[in-house]
Amino acid sequence: MSGAIIQFKNVTKQYDNDPPILNDVSFEIERGKFYTLLGPSGCGKTTILRLIAGFTEASEGEIVFNGKKINHVPANKRQVNTVFQDYALFPHLNVFENVAFGLRIKKMKNAEIERKVKEALSFVNLSGYETREIREMSGGQRQRVAIARAIVNEPEVILLDEPLSALDLKLRTEMQYELRELQRRLGITFIFVTHDQEEALAMSDEIFVINKGKIQQSGTPTDIYDEPINRFVADFIGESNIVEGRMMEDYRVEFVGREFECVDQGLNKNETVEIVIRPEDLEITTLERGKLQVRVDSQLFRGVHYEISCYDQDGNEWLVHSTKKATVGDKIGLYFDPEAIHVMRHGETEEEFDRRLEAYSDVEANGK
Ligand SMILES: Nc1ncnc2c1ncn2[C@@H]1O[C@H](COP(=O)(O)OP(=O)(O)OP(=O)(O)O)[C@@H](O)[C@H]1O
Ligand SMILES: [Mg+2]
Repeated sequence: MSGAIIQFKNVTKQYDNDPPILNDVSFEIERGKFYTLLGPSGCGKTTILRLIAGFTEASEGEIVFNGKKINHVPANKRQVNTVFQDYALFPHLNVFENVAFGLRIKKMKNAEIERKVKEALSFVNLSGYETREIREMSGGQRQRVAIARAIVNEPEVILLDEPLSALDLKLRTEMQYELRELQRRLGITFIFVTHDQEEALAMSDEIFVINKGKIQQSGTPTDIYDEPINRFVADFIGESNIVEGRMMEDYRVEFVGREFECVDQGLNKNETVEIVIRPEDLEITTLERGKLQVRVDSQLFRGVHYEISCYDQDGNEWLVHSTKKATVGDKIGLYFDPEAIHVMRHGETEEEFDRRLEAYSDVEANGK
C-alpha cells in the first residue's frame, strides 16, 4: 500500500465554460510531511486546498483520502482543518472560545474541551492567554490561535493558506521556524500555500511548483533549486541566468556563441535548449581565465554577498553573487564549472526529466 494520505488523480476544475483553473492535476501527499504549494497569484493554489477541504467539487478526476474516493464527501466529514489567510477568527469570542468552537459544535463534554483547548494552546505557546480578546492579540499571536483552533480537532491534515503573509518580515521568519517545529512535533501532514519561494525552500519537505493550473515540478527544495525543469521554475525559484543554447553532442553545449563542456548527455544533436546558471555558481576572475567576458553594470551589497549585474557583448545580463567586490564599468571574466551549467529541454515532462537525470547518475556510477 502506498503511504499516500491524499491523492489527486487527473483532477480538473472548471467554472462554466471558462478555461480550466486546474488542468489534469495529479499528485500524492504522503503522511506526516510538510508540503508547500508554490506559485504566482491566480495559479490555483487556494483551489487545490478548497478541493481537499471539500469547499468545492472537482469537475473531473478523483480525489482520494486514505485510499477512499472523497469527491462527494462534505467538508465537515473530512479529516482536514484549514487555517485561512485572514485566520477567520471570531472577534466576539476570546482565545479559549475561538479554539473551543469546533469542539462545542461536536457537543463534547466541558471537562474534555477544557483539557483539549489547554493542550492546543500550550502547543502554540499561548498558555495563559485563554481569556484574552482577539483584538488584544498581535498578528503573530492571532496566527497561533488559528493554528490551535485547527490542531484541537486532531485532523490528519492541516491546510494553511498563506498564513504568514500578513506578518512583518521578522515575525514571519520566526513563525516559519515555529510552524515547521510544530509540524514535526505533531507529526500531522501540513499543506502550506505561499507565493514566496524563500519561504517554500526554508520550510518544506516537498514543494509543488504550480503555474497556470498545472504542477510544473514537484520535489525537495534542493531538487527544485538545483535541477529546475523549465524556465518558469528556474525563474520562480531563486535568481537565475537563463539563455538559449544548443546541444552540440554529449557533454558539449553551445551558448552565447561559444562551446562549453557540460555534464548533460542523451539529448539530440543540435537540439535547442535553455541554459541555467545560478548567480552563486559564477566566479569573478581575470578576463583571460574567464569563460565569459562581461562588463560590470551595477553592484549591490546584500549582507552576505555582492549582487553584481554584468552584460556580455551580446547584451545578455549575467547576475553574479560573490563575496568579492567588483568595480562598476570594469571588464571582467566569469568562470564556472561544467556542473554549473544546467540544461533544460523544451516541453519536457516531469517523468522524462526524472528519467534523464537518473541516466546521468548511472553514467557517473559507471565512471564516464
Ligand atoms: N468561484 C470562482 N469562480 C470563477 N473563477 C474562480 C473562482 N474561484 C477562483 N477562480 C479563479 O481561479 C483561478 C485560481 O484561483 P486561486 O484562488 O486558486 O488562485 P491562488 O493561486 O490561490 O492565487 P492567490 O495567490 O492570489 O491567492 C483565478 O484565476 C481565480 O480568478
Ligand atoms: Mg489563494
